[in-house]
This record gives sequence, C-alpha cells and structure tokens, in this order.
Amino acid sequence: MRKKLLLGNWKMNLLVGEAKAFALASTSLTQKAKEHQIMLGVAPTYLGLQTVLASNPELIVAAQDMHFESKGAFTGEISGDMLKDLGVSWTLIGHSERRSYFGETNFSCNKKIKKALSLGFTVVYCVGETAKEYEENQTKQIIHDQLSVGLQGVSEEEFSRIVIAYEPVWSIGTGLNASAEHAQDICSYIRQTLATLSSSKASDAIQILYGGSVKPTNVKTYLLQNDVDGALVGGASLTVESFEALLNEMI
Ligand code: PGA
Repeated sequence: MRKKLLLGNWKMNLLVGEAKAFALASTSLTQKAKEHQIMLGVAPTYLGLQTVLASNPELIVAAQDMHFESKGAFTGEISGDMLKDLGVSWTLIGHSERRSYFGETNFSCNKKIKKALSLGFTVVYCVGETAKEYEENQTKQIIHDQLSVGLQGVSEEEFSRIVIAYEPVWSIGTGLNASAEHAQDICSYIRQTLATLSSSKASDAIQILYGGSVKPTNVKTYLLQNDVDGALVGGASLTVESFEALLNEMI
C-alpha cells in the first residue's frame, strides 16, 4: 500500500523569516497528516532549509536541486554532501524549470540522481512533456527517455528511494490543468516503464506525484486516480492556509 505524499515546491520564494513562520505554523498539519498516514513536506530554497528543519522536524525537507560532485570549483553550486551535513535527506532533481532555464538534461539528472542515492537521499525525479510535445502526441516517448536515461544504473534497492513527479510543463504555473484522465494515463505509463527499468515489485511501491497548477479545488480529482499517489505543488504551497486546504482535500 503506497502512502500519499503532499510536497510543496517553494521555488525561489519565501524569505528565511517567512519560511520559519510557515514551518512553525505547520506543526498541526504534520500531526494531522501523520494521523492519516499522509507524508507531508516542502522544498525551500537552500537558504531556508536549516530553519525549516529546525522549526518542524516532522516535515519532510527537500532541496530543490544538488550538484553531482561532492565539492570543488563549481561556483554557485551546492553539493549533496553539504545538504546531508545539514540534515537534509530528500531532493528534487530535474524540475522542468531547471531543465528549461538552467540547461539540465536527462544525462545531468542521471549523474545527480546516482550521487544523491549513493548518499542515502530520497530523490523526487521530475518528468514531463512541453506543450509542443503534448500537441505532437510525443508525451510517452519523452517520458520514456526521461526515465530510462535519468534512472540508468539505479539499483533495485535504490529504486525504493525514488519518487517520480509527473508535471506536464505546459501546466506548471499556468492554471492550465491536465485532465485527471491524462494524469492517470501517463502515471500508469510511468509505472509500467519503471517496472521494465527495475521490477514490477519495485514499481508497484514507487510513489508517483502529479504536479502542475494543483490547487485545493482540483487536488482530489488527481488523487482519485489509481496511479497518482500525491501532488507536487508550487504556487498553492506558499501559505500554510493553502497548504492545509490541500492536505484537507487529500484526507
Ligand atoms: P505550480 O508548480 O503548482 O505552481 O504549477 C508546480 C511545480 O512546478 O512543481
């Protein structure tokens, strides 16, 4: 039985003080989530990680990215070792904004994923098609490439620390929602593909999140789908009120 997971992606939002206030106010939410067997977490900026970890130890705290080397001459980057040192044990990899604005590729994602897994992280690997790819009916091919290249060399044991976030790029931050049927079709395809890359036992256990303009008003329709185990939420995760409303809809 897969647990449900609600993960907020704060992107480049919230000052440290705001992140702290959110985390402190979220203690009743983590309690409620626990009672209902729901996993709850946020991905703050690097600067917000420490305060969120300290302010609510029950919240899953994920980095938004990490470098694949441990240290060295990579100005502006943060390594997995540094995140681990801080007490962070989850990270997003391959978010579409990293792919489209910062040159992330399936190959660089693969390096990061292998490094993160070797350090004991749980990795939320983000995949999804652009509007053009969607219109040209290439979604499954794109997803197949993202999964097979991104997860190459991941062991059966390590697959238990993989979460997949399916986010159609055209739906992120646009208010354009994919239909629940489309979300289910692709999440089911993702699970089938994961079975070929690992085993059906491993793929049955992997949590697959849906993301892209998820709001309290639509989260339930996605969660009702067989292969959707939770949501990766940007805009609607930025206030505790909205985050709580999302959680309430998932209960
Ligand atoms: P959104 O972002 O909920 O604001 O569309 C989702 C995401 O990028 O993870």
